Amino acid sequence: MTEPDMWTLVLDGWDPADEGRREALCTLGNGYLGTRGALPESSADGVHYPGTYAAGVFNRLSDVIDGVAVENESMVNLPNWLDLRIAVEDGAWLDLASVRVLEHREQLDTARGVLHRTTRFVDGAGRHSRLDQRRFVHRERRHLAGLHTAFVAEDWSGRLTVASGVDGTVTNSGVARYRHLSGRHLEVLTAEETGDDTVLLIAATTQSRHRIAVGARTRVTVPVDTPVARVPDRAEGRIGHRLTLEVRAGEAVEIEKIAAVVTSRDVAIAEPGLAATALLAEAPGFEELLAEHTRSWGRLWRRCRIEVLDGTSPPPVETVRDLRLAGFHVLQTVSRHDLDLDAGIPARGLHGEAYRGHVFWDELFVLPVLVLRFPALARALLLYRVRRLDAARRAARAAGHRGAMFPWQSGSDGREESQRLHLNPLSGRWLPDVSDRQRHIGLAVAHNLWQYVQATGDLAFLTDEGGAEVLLEVARFFADLAEHDPADGRFHIRGVMGPDEYTTRYPGSDRPGIDDNAYTNVLTVWVLQRARELLDLLPPSRRDELTATLDLGPAELRHWREVGERMAVPIHPDGVISQFAGYRDLPELDWDAYRRRYGDLQRLDRILEAEGRSVDDYQASKQADVLMLFYLFSADELRDLLGGLGYALPPEAIPRTIDHYLARTAHGSTLSALVHAWVLARAHREEALDHFDRVVRSDVADLQGGTTAEGVHLGAMAGAVDVVQRCFAGVETRGDVLRFNPHWPGRFGVLELALQYRGRPLTARVTDREVCVSADAGPGGPVRVAVGDEIRDLWPGETVRLRVPGASGVGRRAWGQREGLVAP
Ligand code: BGC
Repeated sequence: MTEPDMWTLVLDGWDPADEGRREALCTLGNGYLGTRGALPESSADGVHYPGTYAAGVFNRLSDVIDGVAVENESMVNLPNWLDLRIAVEDGAWLDLASVRVLEHREQLDTARGVLHRTTRFVDGAGRHSRLDQRRFVHRERRHLAGLHTAFVAEDWSGRLTVASGVDGTVTNSGVARYRHLSGRHLEVLTAEETGDDTVLLIAATTQSRHRIAVGARTRVTVPVDTPVARVPDRAEGRIGHRLTLEVRAGEAVEIEKIAAVVTSRDVAIAEPGLAATALLAEAPGFEELLAEHTRSWGRLWRRCRIEVLDGTSPPPVETVRDLRLAGFHVLQTVSRHDLDLDAGIPARGLHGEAYRGHVFWDELFVLPVLVLRFPALARALLLYRVRRLDAARRAARAAGHRGAMFPWQSGSDGREESQRLHLNPLSGRWLPDVSDRQRHIGLAVAHNLWQYVQATGDLAFLTDEGGAEVLLEVARFFADLAEHDPADGRFHIRGVMGPDEYTTRYPGSDRPGIDDNAYTNVLTVWVLQRARELLDLLPPSRRDELTATLDLGPAELRHWREVGERMAVPIHPDGVISQFAGYRDLPELDWDAYRRRYGDLQRLDRILEAEGRSVDDYQASKQADVLMLFYLFSADELRDLLGGLGYALPPEAIPRTIDHYLARTAHGSTLSALVHAWVLARAHREEALDHFDRVVRSDVADLQGGTTAEGVHLGAMAGAVDVVQRCFAGVETRGDVLRFNPHWPGRFGVLELALQYRGRPLTARVTDREVCVSADAGPGGPVRVAVGDEIRDLWPGETVRLRVPGASGVGRRAWGQREGLVAP
């Protein structure tokens, strides 16, 4: 048995109930294309769910639910290129449910981007067979994927039949809750043999009319003198080849399948079918493609290096492996192929159909990882938002506001894609969904944009590519949304939802949303400040162009200043920042009683609704909301922001606020543990590591009980890496300086990170005492690097060492001493 290492996820044994999780975790992708780790011989049957998705390929379907017309846009499940079935001696196609499985193992090699599968089985006639498969989705050649199968008849000789093709009969049916709704997005246009060993299927999406071509080339390698018969294999909506051959005991038969997926959204093609055919004609064999692919992953990992070295008590292998697995899935979901794709960051990756492939605020948790490694990719993903600025302007106008209102859920064209109704599987009821009231999405877009400019200094993105317009139009929207109340002389933002999706309205109220969500209001103030700073930053000629284009005059800028100085933020008398106005008047939930009764309270909203109650009526949060403020801002920044509004944030108010929400949060979103890990790192360090463990294991351990099968949680995966980089190493880009403020457990040893700052590749080595940063050699001037108050110029080819102030503090050691993570 192979020992698990830091790069390999090993999934042993055959467990149909766990297959969905494994398929999502074993998804292979390259940012353009993602294919779930379904067994090649499987089809969607309740246990297996083969899914292949291309970034940005969406389609809309309509339904009527309880008399209400609803339209949903979904990332489309594309024709299944994996489709490869095997039958022994004219028997049924291999299905693990109907043979005796002796051995079954999948190994995901995240260093090379390869999924291995080994299965040994005995069929009904007592014959023993072995199947070894390897597959990849090519890192560089974005359209290509490969599957290699080695079959050994261990103790029998006879006929083997192999069917290999492309299945266009697939639907979107991967999420049980959505199965009541339409899911047939594809019409197969043509399915034909294009050569002796190749087939091509072309399908079109029913509404968006994208054409998708999937070609497959299947070749077999057999011992000399083994005849192979090949015939076309056609059925409605599918095309392939059927191969029949005589196998001899102990001899291996090898079948290699190379697939090409091309869509009409792709650049530099004449037509998807032609492109797929040409790609297959020129593609080398499996081994050569695989070698290229693994070399490419090697280069990618060097650029994204995160190593933990020389610790006296290093973190457990599993923690490092899970962290790498998280990074691996991020790198598989977004890549340099996104530079010309016009795709956003799907919250559940290219790994499954939860949330229909929509783009949420989760990019707030993903972009920090990209900005410091792949700035061009971060920029491309921000351009997804820039291109949808007009849609956001239209949405603001339709809501009676100025500026730009970005949608809570975004898909193809930037209209609001949030569902209008959602199903509570516990009660079976369809309920109105008002989660699109989460206006804070626009603030996240502005925040991401600013962080990108901070890390890259890319002012051209602001002036020439629309970045500044997005920031200013978001600022304009929120300034307009804020209403002045002469009674208290303050501005209020009413009828919105914060990140906590449990709280949708005041108890008993018909009006959706709550008032003065602290997170939204404070972030609005920050965005208004950045908007003004941005105008100061630009060369006067560019500034004048921009203010003229946007018709942004001194009166409006004065109004922004006023809103930024007089925004209301609800704060309880004991200093705890209130989630929203009136939050503290809500009754407390008896958490202990509910925990005793239901155990897991992550979906407390569904539990209470099924009981005929509403989670709106309690001080209960699904996820971090107020605490997001501590996630985005340092205590000093937050103190300044609140101070500017005339509110105090005494030191004791911070732990009090954290404790208040910690006791009242159900962590119904994986983002919650992430934010808590981060926030607690500054206050309660031991607890922080518990939350970090949860974040890293969110999907590997399917901590939300069944949701991983529907796609990984990309925000949490990226967030796990980000906690290491921005929280443990304390990396921050602010005021033209790359800062480090480490909270790194000394016993773990040296944390080595490869970063890119202001165009310069850097290597940072962080311990609990020292930060050492080296810059790659090359032309150009220095970048500025700081620890605490010490700021140093770092020239190309040089290294600076900076001492961590207060090193060897007790708090730092406490990190390493936590039971479980570090051996005593
Ligand atoms: C969370 C949101 C998140 C979404 C997509 C929801 O469960 O509450 O904050 O954006 O999932 O990941």
